[in-house]
Amino acid sequence: KTIQDLGDLRGKRVLVRSDFNVPLDGATITDDGRIRAALPTLQELLAGGARVVVTAHLGRPKGAPDPKYSLAPVAARLGELLGTEVALAKDVVGEDARAVVDGLADSSVALLENVRFDARETSKDEGERGALADELAALADAFVSDGFGVVHRKQASVYDVAERLPHAAGKLVLTEIESLSRATEDPERPYAVVLGGAKVSDKLGVIANLLDKADRLLIGGGMVFTFLAAKGYDVGSSLLEEDQIEAVKGYLTQAQEKGVEIVLPSDIVVAPAVSADAPTTVVPADGMPADQMGLDIGPAAQEEFAAKLADARTIVWNGPMGVFEIEAFADGTRAVARAMSEAEGFTIVGGGDSAAAVRQLGFDETTFSHISTGGGASLEFLEGKTLPGIQVLED
Ligand code: 3PG
Repeated sequence: KTIQDLGDLRGKRVLVRSDFNVPLDGATITDDGRIRAALPTLQELLAGGARVVVTAHLGRPKGAPDPKYSLAPVAARLGELLGTEVALAKDVVGEDARAVVDGLADSSVALLENVRFDARETSKDEGERGALADELAALADAFVSDGFGVVHRKQASVYDVAERLPHAAGKLVLTEIESLSRATEDPERPYAVVLGGAKVSDKLGVIANLLDKADRLLIGGGMVFTFLAAKGYDVGSSLLEEDQIEAVKGYLTQAQEKGVEIVLPSDIVVAPAVSADAPTTVVPADGMPADQMGLDIGPAAQEEFAAKLADARTIVWNGPMGVFEIEAFADGTRAVARAMSEAEGFTIVGGGDSAAAVRQLGFDETTFSHISTGGGASLEFLEGKTLPGIQVLED
């Protein structure tokens, strides 16, 4: 169901679950992509005269109020972007939340304080979650699920509340499903996937699934060293998940059997430490010095990766190629972003870090077909898993 299916919303209280889990430096938002992605739904509801109540989480507070995780910076930024004041309730579903919602005029918006300040939000106990969902539902006449980044979580404000109110998928959730489905349902070929980021263990499910779907798998980032170790290379002091080496060996064999090309970098940028002023060297991937750590893919690998992406018709990228926050280790990530922005196929950037990297490195977002707001959610979607926050909308 879409927002239209909810009928005339003028004067109605509409609870929207958004994902405002943005990176913060103190109280400063360093990447507001997720807030901007939430605007189309909020604008549509406001244009329709609804009284909009937004609920969202920030970080992982321990189920109790913690000023470090207050949504105050988000309320301020959201207000700037919408061009209207956004009232922030001091609590999640308490007295202040009820007062703020009662005070809403038609076509105005309020934000409830971080929903994870209430321990029931993430409880494994259905009864506990249900009790919070009842209180959230009491604040509204309808529910719009638009926090795509959190639809893989079976949590009160994502899942249980949808069972208690007339509900619809928001515009962001619909766009994400439509775009990501182009990679999961009969993708145009060649279909190339670039995986990076720190840990192989975070990506095991998606790799297993991709061996049945993708034509090429390009691996970079911290996780590549477990692949290189699985090939028998010495990876110096690089990030290494020793307990995953056997699993990775299995994937390398399966890839060969299934005809999936696994592309590993032929050279690596190494340094003695993760530091902007550490001296860097480019070494072959099978010749990493014992006292150095790999922090980016090297220049030859950047060219190889770009060549493997140039003729791909579908490209999915999740996870940076190196420590892109430090300029000396940003070229690998930049090369993948550039190759994708120049590719003619359908391009999806997924995962908070790669999306932030694309913006931070100054790429024009419109040169990518889709920049997903989901981290774990987009990976689980690509794995083909059932996501509770989507399933509950379909039931
Ligand atoms: C994310 O940042 O991926 C989402 O907001 C979900 O956050 P979580 O991993 O803390 O549930």
